[in-house]
Amino acid sequence: MADGAEAAWNRLAELARAPGASAIRPLMEDPSRAARFTHRAGDILADLSKTSVSDAVREALLDLARGVLAARDAMARGERINATEDRAVLHMALRGPRGTFRSGEEDASAEVHATLDAMQAFCARIHGEGRFTDVVNIGIGGSDLGPQMAARALWRHGMPMRAHYLSNVDGHAWEVMRHGLDPARTLVLVASKTFTTAETMANAHLVRGWLRDALGEAAGANLVALSTNLRATADFGVPESQVFGFRDWVGGRFSLWSAIGLSIALACGWEVFAALLAGARRMDEHFLSAPEAENLPLLMALTEVWHVNGLGLPSRAVLPYDERLARFPAHLQQVEMESLGKRVTLGGLPVPRPTGPVVFGEPGTNSQHSFMQLLHQGTTPVPADIVLVANPAHGFEENHRQLLANGLAQAEALLRGRDATEVRAEMEAKGVAPAAVEALLPHRLFPGDRPSTTLVLPRLDANTLGQLVALYEHKVFCLGALWEVNAFDQWGVELGKQLAGALLPELAPGAKAGAHDPSTTALIAELHRLRAD
Ligand code: F6P
Repeated sequence: MADGAEAAWNRLAELARAPGASAIRPLMEDPSRAARFTHRAGDILADLSKTSVSDAVREALLDLARGVLAARDAMARGERINATEDRAVLHMALRGPRGTFRSGEEDASAEVHATLDAMQAFCARIHGEGRFTDVVNIGIGGSDLGPQMAARALWRHGMPMRAHYLSNVDGHAWEVMRHGLDPARTLVLVASKTFTTAETMANAHLVRGWLRDALGEAAGANLVALSTNLRATADFGVPESQVFGFRDWVGGRFSLWSAIGLSIALACGWEVFAALLAGARRMDEHFLSAPEAENLPLLMALTEVWHVNGLGLPSRAVLPYDERLARFPAHLQQVEMESLGKRVTLGGLPVPRPTGPVVFGEPGTNSQHSFMQLLHQGTTPVPADIVLVANPAHGFEENHRQLLANGLAQAEALLRGRDATEVRAEMEAKGVAPAAVEALLPHRLFPGDRPSTTLVLPRLDANTLGQLVALYEHKVFCLGALWEVNAFDQWGVELGKQLAGALLPELAPGAKAGAHDPSTTALIAELHRLRAD
């Protein structure tokens, strides 16, 4: 690590040790704070003022950030920054204009646009023919979460097709889904970067069998593949004209903009998919051009550094106050935790500080009636990202006002808390007996000074969704650079895959268990016993 960075980390640690470092309310006494800590990128407004990032902390964080934008430029130049997989990281090329991104000697943009043109022509044909009413996307992780999140956010009645997402190898998922589908009218996309992922291939064989049972040899016409592995897609029997490729410089969790997003375009229409890409491009332009002190992805990353490394907060909640964004927290879980759940630096040394926090979330107001209790009164503060959408796409104005009021109220309650004077006065006004007031008081106090970031979108459409998703992608990039970890590999998923492969034959009827720890051996025996009954 450069000496400058070490000094900046030390300065940050010093600020975090100072008394009152996590207090927010005193900072809020500055009438200019809300404006000074509110930033805009594209159509998104981000209020970062309800955090304990003071002016001094912000200065120290920006010192830490020297070098992040240079790393960003290396990514944009197509350098192989994913060193452990020896790959470039070029998801920005997927939404960039023609002629903008290169990967080594190759014109990455040319290939991207050739695929986009083919996808558009394919959508036009499918929509024009009108034969297919439903599209089933079979994929998992990045080949499921991003497209599913976006299709759920953007689909409206009257759009060209219904989209379904089959990800879990649990047969119950297909068992439920298949009953609503007519094989003759269902287009099946097998979405897999590698075309080797066990769950996806198991489901692909299952669904191909269902198509073949109903349609015989004609089933091939209903099959589409989205992959980098063109040999495997051919072996699986997908006609070449129905294969849409992409390259290894697209990470799975950043792939919804690639051929992997075809289900979005089929379900919602090409214009919607194109607007999604345009929105992401708008955020890319901000990320690529805004100076450090105004660069929203970087500022959000720095706020997270303060929470995780300064204050030692190990988790973060994502609370979209919009039902259409119900799968947004799940998508971010992969984007953030698969990218930043790392314990060694790019150079292979232990990271000397905590890295990616646990990310979880649910749409508001549902979250308020499940886990928000812990955010308000639990022992460890959990920073929250609250996403508000000013204008709904429905006419139920009263509901929407309630939704917005609740989102604002959560952020306000986390900040201001509730002290003994206030709680006593309220209970006394209700005529609660003095002894009961004192007994209940500790339970009814809210500590306050709990951080949140509020993002406001004017409306949720394909363009603003593209901006929002790209904002978080770039935030993750910045955190990877700040923590000096590779945010683009995911070796941590491998061991479980290998062990599952080894366990699979041992679960066959009558099979013997191999060598395992005593707990696993006992569980295998119990499963054999229960399944033999
Ligand atoms: O879980 C590991 C992972 O490789 C993810 O990174 C990826 O999004 C997912 O599996 C699916 O991979 P594929 O698209 O190759 O089937």
